[in-house]
Amino acid sequence: MTRLITVTGATGALGGRVARLLAPAAADHDATVRLVVRDASRAPRLPGTAVVAQPGGYADEAGMTEALAGTHTLFLVSAAEAADRTEQHLAAVRAAVAAGVERIVYTSFLGSEAGATFTLTATHAATEEALGDTGLRTTVLRNSMYADFVPFFATPTDDRGAVIAAPAGDGAASFVSRDDAAEVAAAVLLRDHPSTDGRVLDVTGPEALTLADAAAVLAEVTGRDVRYEAQTVEQAWATRRPSGAPDWEVEGWVTSYTAIAAGEMAVVSDVVRSFTGHPALTVREHLQRHPEDWATLRTGSPA
Ligand SMILES: NC(=O)c1ccc[n+]([C@@H]2O[C@H](COP(=O)([O-])OP(=O)(O)OC[C@H]3O[C@@H](n4cnc5c(N)ncnc54)[C@H](OP(=O)(O)O)[C@@H]3O)[C@@H](O)[C@H]2O)c1
Repeated sequence: MTRLITVTGATGALGGRVARLLAPAAADHDATVRLVVRDASRAPRLPGTAVVAQPGGYADEAGMTEALAGTHTLFLVSAAEAADRTEQHLAAVRAAVAAGVERIVYTSFLGSEAGATFTLTATHAATEEALGDTGLRTTVLRNSMYADFVPFFATPTDDRGAVIAAPAGDGAASFVSRDDAAEVAAAVLLRDHPSTDGRVLDVTGPEALTLADAAAVLAEVTGRDVRYEAQTVEQAWATRRPSGAPDWEVEGWVTSYTAIAAGEMAVVSDVVRSFTGHPALTVREHLQRHPEDWATLRTGSPA
């Protein structure tokens, strides 16, 4: 029987990539694809792929239940950071159960366990637990920090320079390209194999880089003078507080770096290679492939 794979987050970077990978391949795997998005006008237009608008997003449990009707496999992309993100995710999981979904593939974050330093992983830990409680077939993709974001860590200082100022000490992170994370997700979604049921997969880059290493790679690729400056936690709060973001969000930013310092982001796995058949992109390779990621750094205009 033809399976319906429903993809959320397809107006975003990761879900959009997954949708573009699934669309041409689904038929060969006896599957069809539906994109459930908040704004249909921003959904990718892909041959043979249906788009369902669900403006209320995950928080709208009844709307999600309706939008997921007939779904065999759900790709549940974690929501934008929000104070109530956990409740939004739990509503989406309940909607999937109510809609009769058989299998859920969820994008979590590396090290999302009780006691993790990075505070925003609490949502993922709670969602992973809720998924386990459903009794459905589930696969958790714990993506490492995106390599795509490395340029955004750097603040231009003048025409030539930029600094990554963060409380990451000498810790390292196994940055993964969203291209690779999307390929892994698409492979897991298409294969529909019991071997991925109940699995928690760490989706990482091929190596762990310190932020000093990352700054050196950024300097080499962009031609700018990029350096890393280790901050104290107090300095990190002081430089980020003026953004006006709420404390929970600033704490999330700061602890994403202290998690690196604590060694919690350094896990390197072979998941990308084993699911895609090719090695994971290094940060250097990712930046060379995606010059648009560092365009603002190149011109020196603040992001
Ligand atoms: N591993 C990492 O380093 C890292 C870094 C940042 C974020 N993340 C997480 O990974 C997710 C996917 O990454 P990405 O790069 O694709 O992010 P992105 O480009 O911001 O896309 C997020 C997608 O999720 C949708 N979405 C957000 N909140 C939603 C909600 N409450 N209900 C329904 N849909 C919602 C967005 O829809 P709209 O277009 O309608 O907003 C968009 O399609 C992020 O949402 C975030 O949870 C991971």
